[in-house]
Amino acid sequence: VLNSRLESPQNQTGILILPISGALTRDIDGFAAGHLSKAMLAAGLQDKAGSFLEIISPNASKWHAILIYGSGQKTSDDKKNKKSPEQLAMELGGQVFSHATALAKKMLGDDKKKKLPMFWVVDKTTQPLDNMASFLLGYRLKQWQFHHYLTDEKKIAHYPFDSEVVIYEGGLGDKKLLEELSQKQTAIHDGVVLTRELVSEPANVLTPPEFARRAAALNKDGLKITILGEKEMEKLQMHSLLAVGQGSEQESQLVVMEWRGGKKDQAPICFVGKGVCFDTGGISLKPSGGMEEMIYDMGGAGTVTGLMKLLAARTAPVNAIGVLAIVENMPDGAAQRPGDIVKSMSGQTIEVLNTDAEGRMILADALWYAQENFKPSTIIDLATLTGAMVVALGHDRAGLFANDDDLARQLFDAGEEVDEKLWQMPLSPIGGYYDKLIDCFEKRADVKNIGAAGQAGSITAAQFLQRFIMARDDYKPSWAHLDIAGMAWHKTASSLYHPGATGYGVRLLNHWLSKKFG
Ligand code: BES
Ligand code: MN
Ligand code: ZN
Repeated sequence: VLNSRLESPQNQTGILILPISGALTRDIDGFAAGHLSKAMLAAGLQDKAGSFLEIISPNASKWHAILIYGSGQKTSDDKKNKKSPEQLAMELGGQVFSHATALAKKMLGDDKKKKLPMFWVVDKTTQPLDNMASFLLGYRLKQWQFHHYLTDEKKIAHYPFDSEVVIYEGGLGDKKLLEELSQKQTAIHDGVVLTRELVSEPANVLTPPEFARRAAALNKDGLKITILGEKEMEKLQMHSLLAVGQGSEQESQLVVMEWRGGKKDQAPICFVGKGVCFDTGGISLKPSGGMEEMIYDMGGAGTVTGLMKLLAARTAPVNAIGVLAIVENMPDGAAQRPGDIVKSMSGQTIEVLNTDAEGRMILADALWYAQENFKPSTIIDLATLTGAMVVALGHDRAGLFANDDDLARQLFDAGEEVDEKLWQMPLSPIGGYYDKLIDCFEKRADVKNIGAAGQAGSITAAQFLQRFIMARDDYKPSWAHLDIAGMAWHKTASSLYHPGATGYGVRLLNHWLSKKFG
């Protein structure tokens, strides 16, 4: 609920959440005979993000509690990093949300039937309106949790407050603007949440056909969806993608999502996602410890899906195509074997030396399909491609590989601003050092699907993909590959998510697109 004013603040009950400075904070301090400012002074509350002060049952008012937070816009710490003001406001929203939730629980004890009214104050006198909308987005992103399969009500995240009222100091015209901005933020929220939902679903639920069905449902959002099954892909000679899925009971899928919001004659941007609904490794079976993590091996496709929903929701002025390569990698009598040689859609043959290097095989055909059908000016793929990426960068940055330094720079900068960070990794030209590592030793096929063990595993994976990026005299797209193996799922919380699916990449690519096209 958005409200433009708080009626007689001295007579309200519940929890009041206030920024450290601002008109309403001063007013309340006045009603409370300086109680607030004295408490802030005594507690040494600072105007920086992460600084909180709880005042329980403050004097001369009926509030259960007042929570005052530092807004952090002015500290030298924040000047050092390159996060945008909107990003900082968003993180603050997430932090305030967490803190307020804990406070409300403390006030009410374990009784889940009780709820307190809670008033969120975003103050126009201290923050520009779009920061307020970002603040609210942060709070909503942090609120999201995946609990579809919890049957015990008690364990489901419970928010012990009744109303979410946002007050700001301003006239009705501004309220309309805030509503508009919130709508834009809702588009971002819904995109990120869709990605998180898909990534969170277990593989027995989110099978390849189920993923395709969920993607198909986005036609309601204004996307044009085309789905190719195995028959159609066979006709197109996509034997590299099909080889990965041939050991699964589930039919492999190629999903194409089109958003045409740009000029008619403008070449589209393509986003290609790795959608391995479960990766056992295939015949090159993974060890059982930790294998359950491979439910998020469709994270690249999940991100592309959330991004496409978001672009449609905000009617982005861009032509964007999402291509999802969706398979399940299983060991089976029909599964591909190490040593198999398959012919990709591009015509190049691939020696399959490890069936666990499956992501690159499905992307090879999906990338080729995207280029041949849509001739994108830029093509960006996202994939939980290599464990080596996690070894190199941990869980703070995704690996960025690109055949175009300008594109790499743009993506890097966008990542810094929305705190979905990247780090550029080396990529050799065809025939260069790292590229040669995937030449077939015995010259049995054009390329092999792994390099030498323990050597530049993420780079050789990227080099493999580059073999499937067209480099023709008349057509050579800019291409970037984001290895998000360490980013799609985090076991630790941030100010914007709980442990689990992060939704990484949706805001990054949306931000990059909006800087480029609006
Ligand atoms: N999906 C995995 C990569 C991965 C590992 C993602 C950990 C997220 C967390 C990928 O298909 C894979 O198995 N890669 C192999 C490649 C190897 C066989 C060359 C790997 O990283 O070990
Ligand atoms: Mn694998
Ligand atoms: Zn995989």
